[in-house]
Amino acid sequence: MSEEPKATLGILGSGRGSNFAAIRDAIASGRLSASIAVVISDREDARILELARQANIPTVVLRRGKFRTRLEPDIEEELAECLRRFRVDLVILAGFLRVLKGPLLAAYAGRILNIHPSLLPAFKGKDAWKQALAAGVAEAGCTVHWVEAEVDSGPILGQARVPVLPGDTPESLHARIQEAEHRLYPEVIQQVIDRKLWQQIHS
Ligand code: GRF
Repeated sequence: MSEEPKATLGILGSGRGSNFAAIRDAIASGRLSASIAVVISDREDARILELARQANIPTVVLRRGKFRTRLEPDIEEELAECLRRFRVDLVILAGFLRVLKGPLLAAYAGRILNIHPSLLPAFKGKDAWKQALAAGVAEAGCTVHWVEAEVDSGPILGQARVPVLPGDTPESLHARIQEAEHRLYPEVIQQVIDRKLWQQIHS
């Protein structure tokens, strides 16, 4: 692991927070040279917030707004402002269930990462592991990619493959993919930090 450079992460999530926990653990064990400045959610009851509080990491809950799958522009602007306030270098989407549209993409262009539970470009969108199972593929996996305006379509930074096994259910396949996610996401974030990829984009 390299000592420097170190990056400040802002993590956005709506759910269980298992990827947040994997990133937290990677930092604690020295595998990831970063710190988590803030965890932000659109859901006040999301477990990711509870996990962040247990780790003494500041948490922020976004205003609910009137849409379910995206944020109103002024709420997205507040989100960008919050990330700036916490001096976030890299925005880490970890199960954040809102599509980012304008203000945040502009404010953090080339500095937002997402993890998706499929081998992109296959199976974009919702419940990708169910799509993989229904398609009868032999291999599934996960992808870390840069976030751009089109959903699940930004440049790919890393992928991990897992087999689809006989008798797999959506739950068993999803669990296997999530184990792979927990290894892949911290590794790719470290590569982005080591190679100063986000700084290159902004220099
Ligand atoms: C992950 O499976 C990720 O691929 C998808 O959302 C899920 C988040 O899970 N984008 P968790 O909240 O990190 O447990």
